[in-house]
Amino acid sequence: MSDKIIIFDTTLRDGEQSPGASMTRDEKLRIARQLERLKVDVIEAGFAASSNGDFEAVQAIANAIKDSTICSLARANDRDIARSAEALKGANRARIHTFIATSPLHMEKKLRMSPDQVFEQAVQSVRFARNLCGDVEFSAEDGSRSEIDFLCRVFEAVIREGATTINVPDTVGYAVPEQYGEFIRTLRERIPNSDKAIWSVHCHNDLGMAVANSLAGVKIGGARQIECAINGLGERAGNCSFEEVVMSLKTRRDFFGLDVGIDTQHIVAASRMVSQTTGFVIQPNKAVVGANAFAHASGIHQDGVLKARDTYEIMRAEDVGWSANKIVLGKLSGRNAFKQRLLELGVELESEAEINAAFVRFKDLADRKSEIFDEDILALVSGEASAGSAETYGFVSLAQHSETGERPQAQVVFTVAGKEVHGKSDGNGPVDASLKAIESHVQSGAEMVLYSVNAISGSTESQGEVTVRLQNAGRVVNGVGADPDIVVASAKAYLSALNKLQSKADRVAAQG
Ligand code: KIV
Ligand code: ZN
Repeated sequence: MSDKIIIFDTTLRDGEQSPGASMTRDEKLRIARQLERLKVDVIEAGFAASSNGDFEAVQAIANAIKDSTICSLARANDRDIARSAEALKGANRARIHTFIATSPLHMEKKLRMSPDQVFEQAVQSVRFARNLCGDVEFSAEDGSRSEIDFLCRVFEAVIREGATTINVPDTVGYAVPEQYGEFIRTLRERIPNSDKAIWSVHCHNDLGMAVANSLAGVKIGGARQIECAINGLGERAGNCSFEEVVMSLKTRRDFFGLDVGIDTQHIVAASRMVSQTTGFVIQPNKAVVGANAFAHASGIHQDGVLKARDTYEIMRAEDVGWSANKIVLGKLSGRNAFKQRLLELGVELESEAEINAAFVRFKDLADRKSEIFDEDILALVSGEASAGSAETYGFVSLAQHSETGERPQAQVVFTVAGKEVHGKSDGNGPVDASLKAIESHVQSGAEMVLYSVNAISGSTESQGEVTVRLQNAGRVVNGVGADPDIVVASAKAYLSALNKLQSKADRVAAQG
């Protein structure tokens, strides 16, 4: 058995399935590039048959990414599988991932199919997929709650049809580590052709055990692929966290004895990118990527770390991409220094025009904020990359007045398709007044389902990073804006969300 663990990242598919985490094609492409930088083995880019938007995203990622295998999910039917194959045409290495539920509960209540029908469909789908792609993964949805005899029958048959990876999802996060590990071991022992496929784990975090279950699947069960998502993004309580499972395998190599090909120095940038794109804030005490993950507040700990780092640190912050929150650039820094720092942070902007635009924003920020941190640069560039080429709305300026006992007033100047407009309103507070000023003109009718502010570098001198989540006609989008003035950041975030609603609406209209 190989000593290499295949890291299969599903941030862009299962991660995106979490309510409110939907991403645009350009955002997905940007995250995919970061996953490639991380040297992820397999990127699950989406579910091509689920919508035209998803198809386009899988296609764009398949065409752009060269080093990772690109995978598309497909239900176990010919249409889904053919659509995946079509979207993956441009990939250097492609994988079709087909699935069907195998637990008694799912088969009876959800699929309303008999076990024999499920068996047939699984076999036919893998046969069909193998005719289109040499790399086929089969997942037994709700696998951990399926009957072992039935699973053995299904897995043996799909391996015979050419499935190259067999995935045993703990779809509802019900498993516990030892039992899940034993379950996979028993499957592998009982299935005569089990050695012809790579075994994979896919664990959800409903009981907070997704990482532990995945590791048990590897250690006890002999699985050699782990499915995970950056920041543990995913349905309900999320998926197995990429950063935690990767750093567990690396840090405790003495125990697991397995290799992981991930370039961990890009982890923090990836985590920030996913958090900024989805508006899912990372809790400070989150392992590896939380703001406090390497902070030592107590005197005893600080003293220990100063004397010998490994007294209280089991990993090095720099190994996962934390910089020492240092001031990196200032007002006098030139374009080359800026570009160099972007590269050090693992950010590659597409074109010289994008770099120039980001540099202008950087200079503008440096005029207003004396200390520029890495976090500021990442926020600034994230705005740049999510800006997209054909923006409908653009921020120009904002004036607001608030005083104790007075109702706040705001006036926002912004562009609509290049033409300047002025919106004016009062509101409960300056942010409310500013967003109402925009809405008074745009009249999107969108419902705000989330508004959050986060201080990028931790002090009142910091930039505020605002996330606005809007919902309209069944579409949910996130807009992010950053500025030292949180009212301005809020207006930028609101306009960015309106742009995304607009571009989604345009896409739907164009597709008729
Ligand atoms: O959780 C699950 O069962 C899944 C499958 C589609 C792999 O996401
Ligand atoms: Zn899942």
